Amino acid sequence: MGFWKFLTGSMELSLLLLLVLAPLCALTAQDRAHKPGHVSVVILGGTGDLARKYLWQGFFELYINQINSGHSFSFYGGGLSPVNKSTPILFEVIKALKCSKDVSQERCAILREQFLRISKYKQLKTLEEYKDLSKSIEKQLKQEGMKEAGRLFYLSVPAFAYAEIADRINSSCRPPNGAWLRVVLEKPFGHDFKSAQVLATQLGSSLKDEEMYRIDHYLGKQVVANILQFRMQNKKHLDPLWNKHFIERVEIVLKETLDVKGRIAFYDEYGVIRDVLQNHLTEVLTLLTMKLPRDLSDSQEVLTNKLHIFTSLLPLSRNQAVTGQYQNYQQEVREELNKTTGFVTATPTFAAVLAHIDETRYEDMPILMMSGKQLDERVGYARVLFKDNVFCLQNQNSVHCKPKQIIFYFGHGSLNYPAILVSKNLFKPDVVDSEWKEVTEHKDKDVTVLGLPISDYYVQTPILEKEAYTELISHIFAGRRNSFVSTENLLASWDFWSPLLTSITDTFPRIYPGGADNKDMLDIFLKGRDLSYVNEVVIISQDHMSGQNPNNFQVMQGKFRNDEMVSGWTEGLIEKLASDIEEAAEKAILESGVFHLALSGGASPLALFHRLVLHHFAFPWGGTHIWMVDERCVPLNDMESNFRSLHDHLLQHVKIPYYNLHPMPVQLNQRLCVEDDRGTWLYQEEIRKFVNASSFHFVLLGVGFDGHTASLFPGVKPEDHGESLVVFTESPSKPHQRMSLTFNALNRAQKVAILMLGKYKHEAVTQLSRVKGETSQWPVTWVKPDGGSLVWYMDYEALLG
Ligand SMILES: *[C@@H]1O[C@H](CO)[C@@H](O)[C@H](O)[C@H]1NC(C)=O
Ligand SMILES: *[C@@H]1O[C@H](CO)[C@@H](O)[C@H](O)[C@H]1NC(C)=O
Ligand SMILES: *[C@@H]1O[C@H](CO)[C@@H](O)[C@H](O)[C@H]1NC(C)=O
Ligand SMILES: *[C@@H]1O[C@H](CO)[C@@H](O)[C@H](O)[C@H]1NC(C)=O
Repeated sequence: MGFWKFLTGSMELSLLLLLVLAPLCALTAQDRAHKPGHVSVVILGGTGDLARKYLWQGFFELYINQINSGHSFSFYGGGLSPVNKSTPILFEVIKALKCSKDVSQERCAILREQFLRISKYKQLKTLEEYKDLSKSIEKQLKQEGMKEAGRLFYLSVPAFAYAEIADRINSSCRPPNGAWLRVVLEKPFGHDFKSAQVLATQLGSSLKDEEMYRIDHYLGKQVVANILQFRMQNKKHLDPLWNKHFIERVEIVLKETLDVKGRIAFYDEYGVIRDVLQNHLTEVLTLLTMKLPRDLSDSQEVLTNKLHIFTSLLPLSRNQAVTGQYQNYQQEVREELNKTTGFVTATPTFAAVLAHIDETRYEDMPILMMSGKQLDERVGYARVLFKDNVFCLQNQNSVHCKPKQIIFYFGHGSLNYPAILVSKNLFKPDVVDSEWKEVTEHKDKDVTVLGLPISDYYVQTPILEKEAYTELISHIFAGRRNSFVSTENLLASWDFWSPLLTSITDTFPRIYPGGADNKDMLDIFLKGRDLSYVNEVVIISQDHMSGQNPNNFQVMQGKFRNDEMVSGWTEGLIEKLASDIEEAAEKAILESGVFHLALSGGASPLALFHRLVLHHFAFPWGGTHIWMVDERCVPLNDMESNFRSLHDHLLQHVKIPYYNLHPMPVQLNQRLCVEDDRGTWLYQEEIRKFVNASSFHFVLLGVGFDGHTASLFPGVKPEDHGESLVVFTESPSKPHQRMSLTFNALNRAQKVAILMLGKYKHEAVTQLSRVKGETSQWPVTWVKPDGGSLVWYMDYEALLG
């Protein structure tokens, strides 16, 4: 090092030389592993989706690239189905393989023919069949007088099969000394820390750590694979900037438009955090923040530095994550998993998580990771947004007033090709390597990337776009272990994610409609170390789940508009409400000898009345006074009357003294709701006389589509009614005239329950969840018991639609 410094007098150049020399040094190590010889490749799950789409193509390109290397190859597609069934499928796949643009059609056809000749399908089900595979490899080597270089097993099979296959490989397919064994594994690598550890231990008994290649295909994406290279190459620009003083925040984002139909059996067990954040996005995070190795080709140093970031990540708390679920997901799960309507899943299909690194350099620097299905666009990127310390007095369009950012653009989205973009007000970056080029001419000049027109960036892109799998397959062959996930890194990642995953299992994700309709529903607000949705909507958590549900109905508790919420399937929810009322009744009677219950009309409470009648025989009706929340101005025996409905569905079935009933006096002097008859005053006096401090023990309310509650319709304000407890109101629908308790009366209550049932209430629930504070457009928002509690009772149809 001293010598170089002396020679060049410049640190940068010495670094450059180091880079040039590094691959040379690495060659010696790789040489040893790559003495020309025969390589056997076995793709288990060889006719499966992944193999058909990417793996055979990747291995074909490997074969072409190695054609003059002195290596020879044989390829096996392995699987459970018999040879005569899968062979034709495999041949179809191979016949469709493509060559890169620099290979002529004729040559490609010849190469494909050669590749076909050295490929075959093999049934690999029993131990015997594995032994047989090994024997035929040995036989072939002997016949052709070749030396064995290595064996590569690609496990493109469900994870539960890994341990057994690894065991069979170890016991019957190990190559002789001097040849390498590489076993490639696809995620999922466990479900949490524990299961990942169990799997790692199982695999560890059959395979050495250096024999395992865990694929994270993100690490094969060209832009991701070049993050470290870019940081290294532009060290002189980045070193002073790459810290908490200059970086505003880091965003690592994978947005998808697809749903998960077809893979729900897998997805519902995992969800977006396990599927994307724990692996892909976390890998990107480590590449962006890890200490640069002295030598990029030193796998060990890269892995060690990566691991160091994991140990510096601050533990995630519940307040550092928000989750969502697209609206149709419940239905898709029920259909695909053949579940009844009673089934509900809380698996998130969207998540945003805020991470922090406990290092002086990155202290308090927000790192936002987010991913979701059914979002408005398909795009993946990591953006490093720098702080804006510029005050622009006049020319807001001048270049130093624009956002300063570096974007690692993985693909899709508005740009639609992989690229690294550096905004021009930062610095002009060096191109990462000879396989990359600078883009100066833009096909689409109007395209903007994360807020800046493309012309405001220095852009570089790979000369040839390569499929991630093709790239990784060549890395496996070259033994480049730092493109893969080591056991230590895997466990460290699970160690980081598992506590959060546990803490949100009982949280119901925010439901979002999907696509462009999501609008601002999933916008996120960073607040210190915490994060939340910008718009408050439905968030249910089971934090304070009562647990003592006599009928074992599934009921969840949580928050809605900052108040308590209880939700469940209709029957369970109604039972919960009935029990809560009974509990309140018993408590009130114990304390004061009476229970004052105010009930509303409408269809929703009918199910509650039936439940009370048929299941709550011990309800203390004798001490209960029944009051009306509102009444229509019709005779009490009219079918439209709330009291009539209450009588028919509840009162006639229970033993309640008639002098405990308090219908609203809407009919006086043979006329309906005339001010002069002072019906409202009479009812108010009745309340004052019977109810201590005019404070009902329990009030049951509903909410209309338009947000009305009791008979308080949009446009009303609490102060309209002064101190009155009872008023006449006008309904937009017939019969127009109503008598109603006022907000003043409702808010004196000790407990208020708002009941919302059925799909057609979902829109009102969604709207209400977005309304902040109180508004006359949504009268129910004025219901806020002064000293009492408010609980929303919503069934899943109302809540989830
Ligand atoms: C495959 O071979 C088995 C017997 O060896 C036979 O029963 C079966 O019908 C064959 N299947 C096909 C698709 O040819
Ligand atoms: C592989 O199998 C052998 C016995 O066949 C056993 O001794 C060894 O521990 C196994 N695991 C590894 C990593 O070699
Ligand atoms: C769905 O479940 C029901 C009841 O368990 C069963 O009878 C039916 O066959 C199942 N259908 C499918 C397609 O699995
Ligand atoms: C009536 O209400 C007051 C407070 O409003 C309370 O202190 C008192 O105990 C209540 N009386 C009865 C009998 O419940």
